[in-house]
Amino acid sequence: MFLFTFVEFNFYMDLIEDQYFIQGIPVLDIIKEYGTPIYVYDTQIIERQINRLKSAFHVDKLGIHFACKALNNINILKFIKSCDVGLDTVSIQEIWLGLKAGFTPDQIIYTPNCVGVDEIEMALKLGVQINVDHIETLEYIGHHYPDSKICIRINPHVMAGGNEKISVGHIDSKFGISIYQLPLVIRLVQTLKLNINGLHMHTGSDILDAGVFTLASQILFDAALKFPDLEFIDFGSGLKVPYQTDDVSTDIEEVGELLSNSFNEFCNQYGRKLKLYFEPGKYLVSESGMFFVKTNVIKQTPSTVFAGVDSGLNHLIRPMFYGSYHQILNISNPKGRPRIYNVVGYICETDTFASNRAISEIHPNDILGFKNAGAYCFSMASNYNSRFRPAEVMIHEGKHYMIRERESIEDLLKNQIEVL
Ligand code: LLP
Repeated sequence: MFLFTFVEFNFYMDLIEDQYFIQGIPVLDIIKEYGTPIYVYDTQIIERQINRLKSAFHVDKLGIHFACKALNNINILKFIKSCDVGLDTVSIQEIWLGLKAGFTPDQIIYTPNCVGVDEIEMALKLGVQINVDHIETLEYIGHHYPDSKICIRINPHVMAGGNEKISVGHIDSKFGISIYQLPLVIRLVQTLKLNINGLHMHTGSDILDAGVFTLASQILFDAALKFPDLEFIDFGSGLKVPYQTDDVSTDIEEVGELLSNSFNEFCNQYGRKLKLYFEPGKYLVSESGMFFVKTNVIKQTPSTVFAGVDSGLNHLIRPMFYGSYHQILNISNPKGRPRIYNVVGYICETDTFASNRAISEIHPNDILGFKNAGAYCFSMASNYNSRFRPAEVMIHEGKHYMIRERESIEDLLKNQIEVL
């Protein structure tokens, strides 16, 4: 006789009978060991996403650079490096982190915005690939560092991105050099004999419409024909991952097919095979992360049942900042009857994680798990209300590792100078 156990496999955790597991480890054991609030990352999912991205493209040379602003724990960076992926950075500090994680300068792209020349100079001296999004910086590099290889970030003026705050390729955006300024760029390149080895664009995050990549890439190809010494074209990112059940997500195989075809056609026209670069953040790590919190109170008001948890906008600001949706599961009671809650934090502001959400009945001390907690969650956390930032755990090859300690009062006081 066969005994069937109900197993629900999903991207984040496996539900076996009434327990959640990550790589075979019961989630509640992890919580017992490390406490809450806690971020937990599953390296298997990061690897799966990297492989999926790599196999979606059919080009001679594909280069993936992980946008480390999404998740910057050094262990995750080392793991990503071991998967033959480079690093996309936006600050000198991210470059330092990347070098510490073992990336070589040639594996790092640096795409700053509105930084001073002192930081640009530091990056140039470290030998990373610089991606310039300001005409005066181009001139500066031409005058002072004439031998540098420079990539140019073009703003193609395409409206893309899941919300206004993360749409960056439109005409009012501060990012990139406008495509309409191309004649001026070419004049400078020729006069100053700049070595332009790459063109770049990044139009936004959470892009719903795959057609945006095709449209913007055509603009980039037309511009690229004017630069004879290119080594690569970088299509940025914006690949959308699902947040809700049945959510729209980028069909990476479709994007890969369309873009590979147009890229290969472009290379024929250009007369040389170039490298195709992508720099995903969310696509590689969003689904690898869970954020676990403990329910402090169930508080009923005349209109609402609140589940108040031991966290807030200080640890996961996306719902409050962008209106982002993070699915929430009751890890302690996966199969309870669904009830409607507003899940809120303990910060002295309105920090609502979710409104009118059906979740398996929640009791005080229940552990709740937030999905899509790998990208832009810990990396955007703060100490607001003088709260400690959470610990981080990595699940790798069936074992769990604490990869960042929970902060302590010493951390809060670390750089304060008592003068009274
Ligand atoms: N490349 C550049 C130049 C970028 O500015 C970004 C993200 C990326 C790549 C990676 O984009 P992704 O694959 O993650 O969509 N905090 C916001 C997202 C901000 C994205 C900033 N730039 C959020 O939580 O939705």
